[in-house]
Amino acid sequence: MRMVDIIMKKRGGEALLEEEIRWMIGEYTRGEIPDYQMSAFLMAVYFQGMTDEETAILTDAMAGSGERLDLSQLPGVKVDKHSTGGVGDKTTMVVAPIAAACGCTVAKMSGRGLGHTGGTVDKLESIPGTRADLSKEEFLEVVARTGIAVTGQSGNLAPADKKLYALRDVTATVDSVPLIAASIMSKKLAAGSDCIVLDVKTGSGAFMKTVEDSVSLAEKMVAIGVHSGKKIAALITDMDVPLGYQIGNTLEVEEAVRTLSGEGPRDLTDVCLALASQLLHLAGHGEIDFCRQEAQEAIRSGAALKKLADMIEAQGGDPDYIYHPEKLGRAPFTAELAAEKSGYIERMDALDIGVAASLLGAGRETKDSAIDPLAGIILSKKTGDAVKKGETIATLLTSDESRLEAAKKKLAEAVIIGAAAPRKHPLIYARVTEQGIE
Ligand code: URA
Repeated sequence: MRMVDIIMKKRGGEALLEEEIRWMIGEYTRGEIPDYQMSAFLMAVYFQGMTDEETAILTDAMAGSGERLDLSQLPGVKVDKHSTGGVGDKTTMVVAPIAAACGCTVAKMSGRGLGHTGGTVDKLESIPGTRADLSKEEFLEVVARTGIAVTGQSGNLAPADKKLYALRDVTATVDSVPLIAASIMSKKLAAGSDCIVLDVKTGSGAFMKTVEDSVSLAEKMVAIGVHSGKKIAALITDMDVPLGYQIGNTLEVEEAVRTLSGEGPRDLTDVCLALASQLLHLAGHGEIDFCRQEAQEAIRSGAALKKLADMIEAQGGDPDYIYHPEKLGRAPFTAELAAEKSGYIERMDALDIGVAASLLGAGRETKDSAIDPLAGIILSKKTGDAVKKGETIATLLTSDESRLEAAKKKLAEAVIIGAAAPRKHPLIYARVTEQGIE
């Protein structure tokens, strides 16, 4: 087989054969196919797409490119969640402890921040001492002991995705439905859980900008999961506006803790309860309404917060940071973005806000640069809120004063004040399951 023939076939819009896809992924993982040929192939997929069958084979080949975690020795129903990435998205730190407090076993592998989007691994590591680089043995031991562990993706889990993702990031081929579906689902399948809930973000701060594209991505991922015998559902949730009020690593830990204490912002609480109840439903706990009550009770009783504290302790951190998140501290340099006129917040662009947070140090400029755990943005207003001229819309925080000016300029571009209150967006647009779209 020759890679050039496969590229040519895909460039012409033809569907590839199973043996072609498996050969290509195997050879690429072994380093036998150079990045320049794979880049050309990815661009051909970007323009020509892939059939559902091709996507399912690609996913399986990527999942099989490394080790598959065997969770069968762990007790209980193993559950997992995945978000396609957003700004202020701290749902894992809320949903995973709720699921564990309700008796599910959570063995979750998460990622670092990517571009303007944050990553759970960076957030966990912002809690002093907390490790998110557990070995497979440590990971399984923590799950067995506490019912929950969240760690970074092990080096040998879907290594084809690791290589392909890095290549897509620099060849403008990230936002392709079959490539995202295969990337996410290859990791989920290799990670071995029984039940998976997907949070497919839609809007300016998401990889998928329209509800239609998000639904189509969700349908592909659900079909791949069903094909592999998983119980799986996806929620399409809004990412035109950041989720919650705090963006940045320790700031997000703080807000997640507040949400687990029953005092979180409305939007974040609603999305987390929707995801958690969907997961409990998939795990066989009953109808969605009943599962929502179960999730609410895990928050009310303090059981979910305790699960997060137990997990942090088991992963090397001090659980006191969870019970007293103010101990995480605040960045020394701040600036305020004030309203230039009175009116209503007409738009608050999640993408620009994510970029502004990154400029403050909350994200990475290059793959290897360090992040500032205290950097970020606290919003005082969100889309639809009334503001008076001079009132604070947001506070910028950083440990490096020289970063404030550029970040403030970017943040100012993100916010538009209009004369009338804008039409409200739904927070949750749709649910996609094996049965279809609701
Ligand atoms: N997250 C992933 O893991 N992969 C993608 O392709 C996009 C988001």
